[in-house]
Amino acid sequence: MFKHMTALPPDPLLGIAAAFKADSNPKKVDLGVGVYKTEDGKTPILTSVQKALQILSNTEDSKSYIQARGNQAFLDGMEKLVLGAGNALLDSGRVESVQCPGGTGSLRIGFELIKRGNPNAKVWVSGPTWANHVAVIKAAGLETAEYPYYDKANNQLKADEMLEALAQLGPNDVVLLHGCCHNPTGEDLTPELWTKISDLAVEKGFLPFIDIAYQGFGVDLETDVAGVRELLSKVPEALIATSCSKNFGLYRERTGLLTSISETSVLAGAALSHMLNIAREIYSMPPSYGGATVGILLADEALTAEWKAELAGMCARMIDLRALLVNKIHERGVEEDFSFINRQKGMFTFLGITPEQVKAIRDEYAIYMAGSSRINIAGVSSSNVDYLADALAAILKK
Ligand SMILES: Cc1ncc(COP(=O)(O)O)c(C=O)c1O
Repeated sequence: MFKHMTALPPDPLLGIAAAFKADSNPKKVDLGVGVYKTEDGKTPILTSVQKALQILSNTEDSKSYIQARGNQAFLDGMEKLVLGAGNALLDSGRVESVQCPGGTGSLRIGFELIKRGNPNAKVWVSGPTWANHVAVIKAAGLETAEYPYYDKANNQLKADEMLEALAQLGPNDVVLLHGCCHNPTGEDLTPELWTKISDLAVEKGFLPFIDIAYQGFGVDLETDVAGVRELLSKVPEALIATSCSKNFGLYRERTGLLTSISETSVLAGAALSHMLNIAREIYSMPPSYGGATVGILLADEALTAEWKAELAGMCARMIDLRALLVNKIHERGVEEDFSFINRQKGMFTFLGITPEQVKAIRDEYAIYMAGSSRINIAGVSSSNVDYLADALAAILKK
């Protein structure tokens, strides 16, 4: 059966993580994998999440299956978090969600749903997009294409080109949008662009599919999804894949949800039945632990307030690190202007250095980042920022 199988090359980002681990340089810096880190390089369990986990372990009395669509408190709490507690959509009968294994699992179920709705649909992703998007779309058997998004040479959005490309689309098209904290660029759609894209979706009839993996990492929980909520208030149909990996720090618990917005409650029921059926064919039931934890947390006012404060702390730290890094580079008399880093949001930014410079900074300084020069801002700290700025200045002045 497997005689003719050859080994695949390692995932580039996981390869970087492995190379970092093996590097014995005491000054090494990991700016690769997208995981939030504290000042001392740790990814701890949030205190609010720990308390919810404790409640779960004290109260859980069975390991029987949970309901197929997932933990109800989780689904209710997360829909409110994404859509906004007072959103009229919540009582419209048009919204249905299922708990899925992480943001990735949610995306996969969403693309499988699209495949059932229209096997010829074409999915448009931003150029560039999260490295795994295209693989997940293709695994569901859908065609992909790229719409212009980021001008790497000038560190800005390709707004006009993007709108022009989206204006050519129609009802067979799906447009994958990053809800906030665009991965890999950190460059988000402006409120004006959200309005224009919402209007285009209504006019042209393409399906918006929104990937929310970093709600609360950009500005705050509400501002980060303001554009998404405007779009959802206008379009007849949409899909949303939400991940709890980053903002709840539940990476390994594979916690996320897929939400569908349908034109009518009857169609919403049909969409839900297909989402459940697709999940049944792949993994049958969602795991319990992460969803139950978030469900407990979001149903408890005090725990929710504590979590929001912890999330705001992570967000503020990343904003401060952006400013610190820009200042440190500037202090070293580097000609290039890196002030765009301050404007960008969330965990990532593209430094805009060449692949050769990315290699040089790794070989000479043990500073690890993605080949595209995407860095994880949370990997910067007050103890490595001078080293990082020195290295960058030296590489750029060569
Ligand atoms: C844009 C984007 N979508 C989805 C995901 C997947 O998240 P999860 O780990 O929950 O599968 C990520 C993770 O890095 C991401 O950056």
